[in-house]
Amino acid sequence: MRSRARGLGRVMVCLAAALASACLAVPEGWGEEGVQYGQLGTDVTLPCAGARPGSPVQWRRAGAAALPAGSAVRHHGALLLPRAGLAAAGAYSCHGEDGALLHAVGLVMGEPVQPPGYLPGVPFVSCRASDYENFSCSWTSSLETFLPTRYITTYRKKSLTGEEKRRNRNGPVGPCLQDPAHAGTCTVHKSEFWSSYRMNVTEVNPLGSSFRLLDITMQAIIKPDPPEGLVVEPVPRAPRRLQVSWRYPASWPKEPHFQLKFRLQYRPVIHRSWSVVETVNLSEVITDAFAGLEHVVQVSAKDFLDAGNWSEWSAEVRATPVRDPATVVSEETTTDTSLESLAEEPSQAPNPEPINRSDPLEKTAILVSLSIFAFFILATILVITILVWFRMRKHSKDETKPHNFLVAATRLKALPKQTEMLPNLPCWKISPSPMADMCRDL
Ligand SMILES: *[C@@H]1O[C@H](CO)[C@@H](O)[C@H](O)[C@H]1NC(C)=O
Ligand SMILES: *[C@@H]1O[C@H](CO)[C@@H](O)[C@H](O)[C@H]1NC(C)=O
Ligand SMILES: *[C@@H]1O[C@H](CO)[C@@H](O)[C@H](O)[C@H]1NC(C)=O
Ligand SMILES: *[C@@H]1O[C@H](CO)[C@@H](O)[C@H](O)[C@H]1NC(C)=O
Ligand SMILES: *[C@@H]1O[C@H](CO)[C@@H](O)[C@H](O)[C@H]1NC(C)=O
Repeated sequence: MRSRARGLGRVMVCLAAALASACLAVPEGWGEEGVQYGQLGTDVTLPCAGARPGSPVQWRRAGAAALPAGSAVRHHGALLLPRAGLAAAGAYSCHGEDGALLHAVGLVMGEPVQPPGYLPGVPFVSCRASDYENFSCSWTSSLETFLPTRYITTYRKKSLTGEEKRRNRNGPVGPCLQDPAHAGTCTVHKSEFWSSYRMNVTEVNPLGSSFRLLDITMQAIIKPDPPEGLVVEPVPRAPRRLQVSWRYPASWPKEPHFQLKFRLQYRPVIHRSWSVVETVNLSEVITDAFAGLEHVVQVSAKDFLDAGNWSEWSAEVRATPVRDPATVVSEETTTDTSLESLAEEPSQAPNPEPINRSDPLEKTAILVSLSIFAFFILATILVITILVWFRMRKHSKDETKPHNFLVAATRLKALPKQTEMLPNLPCWKISPSPMADMCRDL
């Protein structure tokens, strides 16, 4: 009875205010009593309930000496705040001529909920199923409204089988349950894998509401959690192998009809690119690992029939395959400490007795190259011998004409000064002109 009277009073005040703006129907249940919500940038009118017609009223604002600029008292003592901003918010009170309190109101300024598409491309609602029994939807608020906001989340099931499909009738509306511990998400329990759902997420604040719809099917949104319990172990005596095993994610119910398949990715820690293998088993043997190198392994899961998406990758697990068997054997036979053998290991491969290890073809090649080398040595010795012999012959000839040599020497002395700077230079290096000519003469 009381609340009805209050509602009636509010309607009357709105009518009395006779202003197109800011007479918003405020839904019940938004915080405390005596609070009024105003839209930013609009004219806001605060009614003075209890003011007698014709008698003047006085408005005050708690904690402020003056009312916001431009504010004016209108009919029935209502206070008009033109184009109110965030600064207009506060506690107001209206008083009679004698100063008696007639009415008090708290003003909260904000924005109404934005309609869908107001911010293009923003993914307001998205849904995901981590198993085939339940799915969850999450949403983001469209815009900062400065006002309390709540969400009404419902779904309507559109069955794709049986009676309902034939009649093209929509199923009943059900609630998508919100968990206070996880703001911005709701969950539909016991969903049907072969049905499609129309989700309705309605955002409500004191200035209005707006709903968003999303059509989903379980097959499209299913995305398992990553597999668990990943174990990677070297295989004894197999330097290129790693044994990998894992378990179903705990969130995936074990049912023969709904299986998962898996994919494995692995690489040596020092490499960048992954190798990927797919399997339906819960274990796999990597056969092309690098002996002695540490490897990183991850696994992810997907619905066996390829519905939905691959899960995220599991956490990384590292393991190192055993080293080459030859190396291992030599280590076993030696009684040295493993540290010493480790230090020796790198020098074992390329160094020792390269010729002895080589095959017959290589031996022939070495023999041939040795013979060629010997032949060249012999040829060189022969050429040098011939040259020396020529020199000696020429020398004996020159001794027979000593004055010729003397003539050349005197001509050299007669040359211009600059040539004296190059006394020891061989003839072929003096060019051009007189010196070169002289050289040719010599
Ligand atoms: C799905 O929801 C039902 C009902 O709340 C619950 O019993 C079941 O454990 C949920 N399934 C999974 C895999 O979480
Ligand atoms: C979505 O839900 C809101 C609140 O329950 C309701 O007012 C609105 O009509 C619904 N929209 C559709 C299309 O079902
Ligand atoms: C893995 O699956 C294959 C068939 O794809 C099967 O032949 C093999 O036995 C399975 N291995 C294990 C370890 O389960
Ligand atoms: C799921 O896969 C589809 C394409 O198959 C992709 O468009 C979508 O973004 C994926 N969703 C997630 C959450 O990875
Ligand atoms: C050279 O190789 C042969 C076998 O090819 C081996 O018997 C011999 O001991 C090797 N010699 C040396 C010095 O290692």
